[in-house]
Amino acid sequence: MIPNSFRRPVSIACSILFVCFTAFAQEDSAGKKFRNLPIESTLANGSTEAKVEALLQKMTLEEKVGQLVQYSAGTPTGPGTGRSDYQDMIAKGQVGSLFNLDDARAANRYQRIAVEKSRLRIPLLNGLDVIHGYRTEFPVPLGLASTWDPDLVEKAARVAAKEAAADGVRWVFSPMVDIARDPRWGRMIEGAGEDPYLGSAMARAYVRGYQGKNLNAPDSVVACPKHYVGYGAAEGGRDYNTTEISEHTLREVYLPPFYAALDAGAGTIMSAFNSLNGVPASANPFTLKEVLRKEWHFPGLVVSDWTSLGELIPHGIANDGETAAWRAFTGGVDMDMEANLYHEHLVDLVKAGKIPEAEIDDAVRRVLRVKFALGLFERPFTDESAVNQGPLPKDSLDLARSAAERSFVLLKNDLVGSSHLLPLTEDVKTFALVGPLADDAGEMLGSWASRGQPKDVVTLKAALTMRVGAERVKYAKGGEIRKATDEQIAEAVAVARSADVVILALGEDANEMTAEAASRAHLDLPGRQQALLEQVAATGKPIVLLLFSGRPLTLPWAFQHVPAVLAAWFPGVQAGPALVRTLFGEAVPSGKLVVSWPRWIGQVPVYYNALSTGRPAGNADLSRPPSEGTEKFVSRYVDEPNAPQFTFGFGLSYTEFRYSRPEVGGKIPGATALSAMLRGRADDSKEVLSVSANVTNSGKVAGDEVVQLYVRLRGTSVTEPIRALKGFQRVALAPGETKKVTFSLTPETFALWDINNEHNVEPSRVDIWVSPDSSRGESIEFEIAQ
Ligand code: NOJ
Repeated sequence: MIPNSFRRPVSIACSILFVCFTAFAQEDSAGKKFRNLPIESTLANGSTEAKVEALLQKMTLEEKVGQLVQYSAGTPTGPGTGRSDYQDMIAKGQVGSLFNLDDARAANRYQRIAVEKSRLRIPLLNGLDVIHGYRTEFPVPLGLASTWDPDLVEKAARVAAKEAAADGVRWVFSPMVDIARDPRWGRMIEGAGEDPYLGSAMARAYVRGYQGKNLNAPDSVVACPKHYVGYGAAEGGRDYNTTEISEHTLREVYLPPFYAALDAGAGTIMSAFNSLNGVPASANPFTLKEVLRKEWHFPGLVVSDWTSLGELIPHGIANDGETAAWRAFTGGVDMDMEANLYHEHLVDLVKAGKIPEAEIDDAVRRVLRVKFALGLFERPFTDESAVNQGPLPKDSLDLARSAAERSFVLLKNDLVGSSHLLPLTEDVKTFALVGPLADDAGEMLGSWASRGQPKDVVTLKAALTMRVGAERVKYAKGGEIRKATDEQIAEAVAVARSADVVILALGEDANEMTAEAASRAHLDLPGRQQALLEQVAATGKPIVLLLFSGRPLTLPWAFQHVPAVLAAWFPGVQAGPALVRTLFGEAVPSGKLVVSWPRWIGQVPVYYNALSTGRPAGNADLSRPPSEGTEKFVSRYVDEPNAPQFTFGFGLSYTEFRYSRPEVGGKIPGATALSAMLRGRADDSKEVLSVSANVTNSGKVAGDEVVQLYVRLRGTSVTEPIRALKGFQRVALAPGETKKVTFSLTPETFALWDINNEHNVEPSRVDIWVSPDSSRGESIEFEIAQ
């Protein structure tokens, strides 16, 4: 089918674009179907295309290749060229983009060379890793996702965009939309967790926030979803490792958040380090050409990840730089980040007839399209005097605080005496504040903190002292994150003994143990923190454990012995105020897990949306070894339950919520009709059924509940997940209040990638849950007929 937007008359200025998209559309009719991106995007409109073509006509081959070259300037040296300064090359038109520049002055200094000294005055595209804030650091992305609040994430991304753009950064290497099912992988912290539906919602939110209403606005930045694709499936959770993902799983799990980000208008995308089914993602014609260009019609730019073109040699698909450049370019990568291989080899490859110049032209078009869309030709410089050097503005801080509050996931909150330990009451006279993360501003910023500054952070110690007065806070660090002396632990124990309540701030080292190149084989508390925890607990004082981490930590002892545990992730600049308001109940926890929390590392990978097996454990008691055949020959461990410690979607509140049985409204069309609707862009998001449930706040305080909708399909041509998230809503409920929460189900809700890897709805038996997490709730069942 040729989508309607391609059939519209197009201006002559658009003709080249039209030709290429028509070609895509024709191939599409024979090939696989996803959905079609609107090509009348900010990136590829008629007037932009005319400008792109006019400029392209003037360019030499060398200048064209220059647009496909990107370097990191500003970081001292590194792989690639080993250089950090590129003034000479910029003046010759040999560089299209820089990243890692320090500030607005540096951005303008390099830009001046490009627009004043290079022959065609093509501005540079200046990029940076702006991951969860630029200077106003919000919670790390895993925390932001735990808010289940895309509007809030969009606002956070808008703040980041404004701050970054003011400093001359117009390209952010974000959002990271890799699905992560393995907490050993340090980069889990950078994404939205294990679920493609939630991941897609978050992907869209970031892109909307970064790019604003119009990329051309001076405070908009172009987004770069990464790492395309499958990087999160690194075997053994070891960073940069190989991935093997079936096409079915690729399409159902790993691709959707990328599609969502591009569908929301993201102008660029980054190819990943990993090999995917034997073909490195940065030279992978299937994902980069077949899916991205032919199926999705993506008109924007593909940049490689850092030196990943050079890495094609150790990957084993090239024995020299020239072949690596050829494989990457013909595999679908437009811009070479830092490997220096396009600079060295592309011109020769064209002259030798190994790459048609027309293909170079297409790649250059995609770069120029982004530069024009951003308005860089009219406004290449940023106003250095407008950069905020003072304190962060109140509205940004308020947003950072509320994002942090919503990101916290309350994992446990037992009764101590007759009431739950949290929230703390005003009766508590003295607080022992213990742990290496109680007063570490740098750690609160989290990894990938862009231009975040420790001086902007309010730590837990600072906020608690401000709240209750210094005389009521007894502080002991208890050691460093990764080491402690007996004396430090003994001091902490003494402090604990002298107070009414202990607040323990434990966890990982954000920079060394989370994000890139920070995979862990052990998911426990690093250093001697477990000993610190156990010795403090031995005092018998009530403990609130605040866990700072970029992944779930396997802490069976803590979950058994500590009455209250809150997953705080790395909360950003407002860590302290957000935590203190939560501890005292001014903010009521409402975050929910976006990754399953394993009991033990041997369960990993454990994720809620697993496919069913032929021998599901069913009702077998998995808390003990099997005693007879029906308990044994099922999919289970003999020494550990299958279920994680905490399931995806789980999170407690200071109040309680009651759910009614869901009800269906309407009559669902048959599978053939639903499949047809999937093909039409206007119809694919039409409501075909509604499902509602009453949710009641049955507790004593007001709170937000994240209500989740899950679906299971049975009787289909392929095995589908035992539950798959297909909707969620955050609702605010006063004590005693009931709200009817209604979900609109569309053809997409019931779609799957069938046995032929076609995107369809099949006749099936459907179970639907409206529930507080991925393991509870009553389901209703109905059939989708042919
Ligand atoms: C490597 C990382 O994988 C990627 O996420 C990042 O954007 C680039 N380096 C640029 O810093």
